[in-house]
Amino acid sequence: MTSMEKIQSIKGMKDLLPQDTWMWQRVEDAYRRVMALYNYREIRIPALEKTALFARSIGEETDIVRKEMYTFVDQGGDDLSLRPEGTAGVVRAYIQHSLSIQEPVSKLYYIGPMFRRERPQKGRYRQFYQAGSEIFGAPEPLADIELVIMLRDFFTQLGMQDVTYACNHLGTPESRKAYTQRLIEFFRKDADRLCEDCRRRLETNPLRILDCKQEGCREIIARSPSIESGRPESSSRDFDRFVEGLTDAGVNVRVEPRLVRGLDYYTGIIFEGVTAGPEEGEDSLAIVGGGRYDDLVGQLGGPVTAAVGYAIGLERVIDLCAGRLGPEKVPDVFVVFMGGEAEKVSMRLLHDLRGRGWSCDFDPRAGSLKSQMKRADKCASRFVLVLGEEEVRSGKIKLRDLRSGEQADVSMDDLQKIVGEKLDRVQ
Ligand code: HAM
Repeated sequence: MTSMEKIQSIKGMKDLLPQDTWMWQRVEDAYRRVMALYNYREIRIPALEKTALFARSIGEETDIVRKEMYTFVDQGGDDLSLRPEGTAGVVRAYIQHSLSIQEPVSKLYYIGPMFRRERPQKGRYRQFYQAGSEIFGAPEPLADIELVIMLRDFFTQLGMQDVTYACNHLGTPESRKAYTQRLIEFFRKDADRLCEDCRRRLETNPLRILDCKQEGCREIIARSPSIESGRPESSSRDFDRFVEGLTDAGVNVRVEPRLVRGLDYYTGIIFEGVTAGPEEGEDSLAIVGGGRYDDLVGQLGGPVTAAVGYAIGLERVIDLCAGRLGPEKVPDVFVVFMGGEAEKVSMRLLHDLRGRGWSCDFDPRAGSLKSQMKRADKCASRFVLVLGEEEVRSGKIKLRDLRSGEQADVSMDDLQKIVGEKLDRVQ
């Protein structure tokens, strides 16, 4: 590469530019509001962790750990990976800081970037953002129900009423083992018709075959044994309670006995939220996925603690609700000035107005009246104030209401009152 060649961002990792970040802020604010309503507290964890954490939680044989992690050995010889998801780090922090001793039930949430080296395509990125929530210390399905109701409330705030939650229950470790054995026997009979990945999964992680999207495999999967038949009574009871609780709350649930998830730590109820009606020929993308992982805290060296959570894919959510989030907030006031004295007065005025909580802008290039007005138009502020030498001398400022087109000369003393009243009225 020559030194003049422009360096571009990494494939699958995108910049979020100001014309979009206001939508992100709105969605994240909505998430924080819902979290406050349900009394979940924020946890912030590092983007980088020891690779072993992900291998031991998500699973050595998962696609994520096998081929999608950004892993490297740092200068000190530590094997590190950028987090491909948030749960493993939250569990590590939960154990490391003995949160279970501080409170029997912890309700936590996080928002942040995750990294997976997947094949980039619509809705699939190599750096993407998740908003996730986890409950520790609550083994009853009431916790699972609360999470999905919370999701429903969040999506409703964004005008997304059409999310359906596909769900399943993976049974107990024993029943899952027996089910896996039945799957192995079933798929072995058709092994030569399975795709290469599934033939490997047959040896390493047979449950994951159920998630294969290849046409040939899907036909075979459709005939495969269902998890329900071998599931113990207690699991089915919990699952029924979950489905009933959500149905009672008016949530769209769909039982999917062949639903599996791409991470190995799940132990019981699992769910995925999809929006209804993707465009023809388009795969429906999950906007959220989650479930119970009652063994993970213990497996990572903590006290045995029931846990359940989910993570929302924020790019997908923003894609879906972008048209409903607007308009972007514009400045209340734009100040235009001509001349040295007017500049001084303007700077004081901007300071005063901002002190009152109004968002104000001006053009620091201090060019011609025309170019400043152009800039004011471009940022579409509600009001424009114009100060020239004449205005400074007379103590009257030109106030233009860009919405109504009205213009008036107002005294400095009246300005704050008049603009304040108008802003209050429009807010
Ligand atoms: P996950 O299903 O791997 O679960 O990811 C959750 C959501 O993140 C997906 O439904 C999708 O919306 C989004 N997502 C995943 N990969 C990408 C990508 N490459 N580009 C854009 N969006 C993506 C988890 O991550 C678990 N930690 C969820 C969880 C929390 N389970 C229990 N607690």
